[in-house]
Amino acid sequence: MLFLFLFGLFLAVSDGQVLDGTKELKFVQVVWRHGDRSPTDTFPTDYFQESAWKFGGGGWGQLSPLGMSQHLRLGKRLRARYVTGGTYSFLPPVYDSKVMYQWRICWECTDRADITVLQALIFPQDDDWPTGFVPVPIHTVDYDTDYIANMDCICQRRDWLWEMAQKSDEVSAWENSDQVAGLMKNLTVLCGKSYAMADLWVVADSLLIEQIYFNATLRQQNSWFNDDLYNQIVNVNDQSYFYQYGVFKNPVMMNGLDIGKELQIIRAGSLLNDLSMHIQLKSDCSSAAKKDGCDWINGLKYYVYSAHDETVYSLLVALGIEKYAITPHGYPLYSAAGIVEYWYDNADKKDYFKGAWSKPPPFARHGKNA
Ligand SMILES: *[C@@H]1O[C@H](CO)[C@@H](O)[C@H](O)[C@H]1NC(C)=O
Ligand SMILES: *[C@@H]1O[C@H](CO)[C@@H](O)[C@H](O)[C@H]1NC(C)=O
Repeated sequence: MLFLFLFGLFLAVSDGQVLDGTKELKFVQVVWRHGDRSPTDTFPTDYFQESAWKFGGGGWGQLSPLGMSQHLRLGKRLRARYVTGGTYSFLPPVYDSKVMYQWRICWECTDRADITVLQALIFPQDDDWPTGFVPVPIHTVDYDTDYIANMDCICQRRDWLWEMAQKSDEVSAWENSDQVAGLMKNLTVLCGKSYAMADLWVVADSLLIEQIYFNATLRQQNSWFNDDLYNQIVNVNDQSYFYQYGVFKNPVMMNGLDIGKELQIIRAGSLLNDLSMHIQLKSDCSSAAKKDGCDWINGLKYYVYSAHDETVYSLLVALGIEKYAITPHGYPLYSAAGIVEYWYDNADKKDYFKGAWSKPPPFARHGKNA
């Protein structure tokens, strides 16, 4: 289902031009996360180690056929919205390198299947794929230095801020509460490893995926596992992520810094900067005054960040809308996507943006990803 936050309803179309009253659609940027995959790692005592995972080439972090079909669905939704004949006849029905040439995949061991699916299925020439297969170039960024779309890139300031946040009254009271500290202590024994709060997602993520693929065996082999314990892990992990992304109940001031604000900036700032830089450039380049450096953006209409759930999450947090977009709380589900559209108003000559959120059907409520 596609939720529209701010969309007008009346659209006129002429010559690939998309108008909503006096506003004209100029540029679409999409941030999505990938679909169902095998875990990227698991805890030492887990029955399901790397050899348990066979699909997508086998091993850790491989996209599954289910994940591919989730991408297919996302692609179809985007197509229904933006490609000729859809809600907005904005993009051409075939791949055009001048219109949509920048794609970004940003996790280290990018699955070739994933790339293929993303490239081939988002804009097939017709419905008879693979006859309409169009290989699309994808620009890959190194995991550790992807400062724009990887919220787990190497960043000392982020680590420093998080250490400080953990010493705050709010976070330390939560971490030291009987429930949270007790759960972490129990998990240390059950998992055979002591997890830092920021690494608890490894446990939550493998248990999520094991329930999808090996639900009965999981409960036989890891006999301590049950729904109640799983829900506790997920709840603690969700809250931990709120804190890591700077969402506190009350402002936390330390060393003269608003830690929540700083965490939001360090997590989502460069992505927001990148998104708004594109819009600004697109806007500047459409005026006669600016010509230099405009070649690449003038024809461009579509820019994708194929990234992590954290990337989608940080965008929502930075816009202050995560509580509306992700309900009741938690993480963007498999293949979730956030869309930022740039519209120019021909009447008041001002720039506007509209946001849309593509939420996958309920399937599994939690899936931290790498
Ligand atoms: C930890 O495990 C003990 C023993 O099974 C149990 O009684 C206790 O409720 C658990 N604590 C938490 C917070 O899960
Ligand atoms: C796994 O089994 C449990 C208990 O039977 C059930 O509550 C849960 O919904 C199942 N999960 C999935 C993903 O099928």
